[in-house]
Amino acid sequence: MNFEEEIKRRRTFAIIAHPDAGKTTLTEKLLLFGGAIQSAGAVKSNKIKKSTTSDFMEIEKQRGISVSTSVMAFDYKNYKVNILDTPGHEDFAEDTYRTLSAVDSVIMVIDCVKGVEPQTRKLLEVCRMRATPVIVFVNKLDREGQNPFDLLDEIEKELKIKVRPLTWPIGIGKSFKGVYNLIEKSLNLFTGDSKTTVEARLKFTDINDKQIDKLITEDFATQLRADVDLIDGVYDDLNVEKYLEGKISPVFFGSAVNNFGINELLDCFVDIAPGPKPRDTDDGSVAPNDKKFSGFVFKIHANLDPKHRDRIAFLRICSGTFERNKYYHHVRDKKALRFSNPTAFMAQQKSIIDEAFPGDVIGLYDAGNFKIGDTLTEGSNFNYKGIPSFSPELFRYVNNLDPMKTKQLQKGLEQLTDEGVAQLFTRKVDGRRIIGTVGALQFEVIQHRLKAEYNASANFDQISLYKALWIACPDRKKLEAFMQDRNAHIALDKDEKPVFLAESAWLLQMAQEKFPEIEFHLKSEF
Ligand code: G4P
Repeated sequence: MNFEEEIKRRRTFAIIAHPDAGKTTLTEKLLLFGGAIQSAGAVKSNKIKKSTTSDFMEIEKQRGISVSTSVMAFDYKNYKVNILDTPGHEDFAEDTYRTLSAVDSVIMVIDCVKGVEPQTRKLLEVCRMRATPVIVFVNKLDREGQNPFDLLDEIEKELKIKVRPLTWPIGIGKSFKGVYNLIEKSLNLFTGDSKTTVEARLKFTDINDKQIDKLITEDFATQLRADVDLIDGVYDDLNVEKYLEGKISPVFFGSAVNNFGINELLDCFVDIAPGPKPRDTDDGSVAPNDKKFSGFVFKIHANLDPKHRDRIAFLRICSGTFERNKYYHHVRDKKALRFSNPTAFMAQQKSIIDEAFPGDVIGLYDAGNFKIGDTLTEGSNFNYKGIPSFSPELFRYVNNLDPMKTKQLQKGLEQLTDEGVAQLFTRKVDGRRIIGTVGALQFEVIQHRLKAEYNASANFDQISLYKALWIACPDRKKLEAFMQDRNAHIALDKDEKPVFLAESAWLLQMAQEKFPEIEFHLKSEF
């Protein structure tokens, strides 16, 4: 297979969902239908169950699991499918946002009983920001869910996207009969057999075929015909171009736990989902078929063995062919690096690879060279865009509890924040370090890992902050005047970029009014 064909056959995506909608189940079923695993139950949920006694012990366990589920690749019908896992727990939302920067499309799972939920909304906003193409999978049709028309209305209104159903449910819950494929004009009957990996689709040239009445009863057949008429009247045909621009989302209905609707979803997905596309850098756009290798790190995973500081940096390949043992250029550090054991993830097997192509995600063993967002190239000096830090929600001061271990604490904080566990800000006026996170769980994680991996002891003091905003101004003098005026509220982020620590929305507004030339950004990339 030549280079261009390798690129074209890649489908790199993530499944997003509000916790419990069925993301883990669907991931597993896609692997099962793709022939990558032989039985269900092989993919461990990376959910942090709220019921566990100690959340961080659970996180430790999950960290072990999530290395192996970070990327799950399999071959399906001549396509190479790469599923990138996203954490289920909302406190790790930032991890999810970063992973979404490394995919070319997403499948969004919605529970038909619960409809659109808060995490669904947030995740879709991120997709919209990047115009990521979205396919919707409405799950749990074996439960008494909402009327499908109402549900689609809710999705359109709440998520501000346009949808186009490609299959249509017949009955729901106890009376769920199956789905009608609106494109193929075929009937996929629900058997409730969660063992089967073959979906028998019965084709009908005419929806008025009386055979349909026999299969699903006359009442349901009449209802189906009325629904299909309505769908034709209400929804335009699927325009694949619009889907690729992120403007319309095809919708499938099914039941992941019952292996139902998976084949239809997967077949359509490999057919219409985009392969790798050109990506923006600070020096213009780079096409995947550019012969020179380039990629970026979107996730860093600490090794579980505390004796070794090795980490795995997950790199998304954007252009060219990555080759083992070849020297590449680490743009931020201006260093040449080579990798003797780059790892690929096929289903759940790790293996050392000699080469990888655009769309692939590889794991690079790293002794501390990488930060999230770093670009690796074959010599060029550009940086990939699109992995900003977002303003944290929670902030705490760091207290060093063991002055003999100051260096260890510093190193630990730097490395943990390189991994993206949290953000570190240093206040200019007194050098105090402030940790910012999306959720409260990270503070537990940091404290625990500082002790376990760096032998450093720290605790945290409350600090009441509303947001951290990255500040900029074309006129350097004006920026400095602002920083002087708000001296006590200025900090530097890890990349030494200035940040305004706003104590309240009102104080932020005051600052904006008094200094209208200053730009305040909720993310580090603008
Ligand atoms: P998540 O990763 O999105 O958080 O969800 P996950 O797949 O873990 O699914 C959440 C729960 O929903 C699981 O039940 C799972 O079995 C169930 N589920 C998934 N798909 C369907 C479906 O099509 N129909 C029905 N009725 N249930 C479904 P659980 O009780 O939390 O876990 P388990 O004990 O079944 O593993």
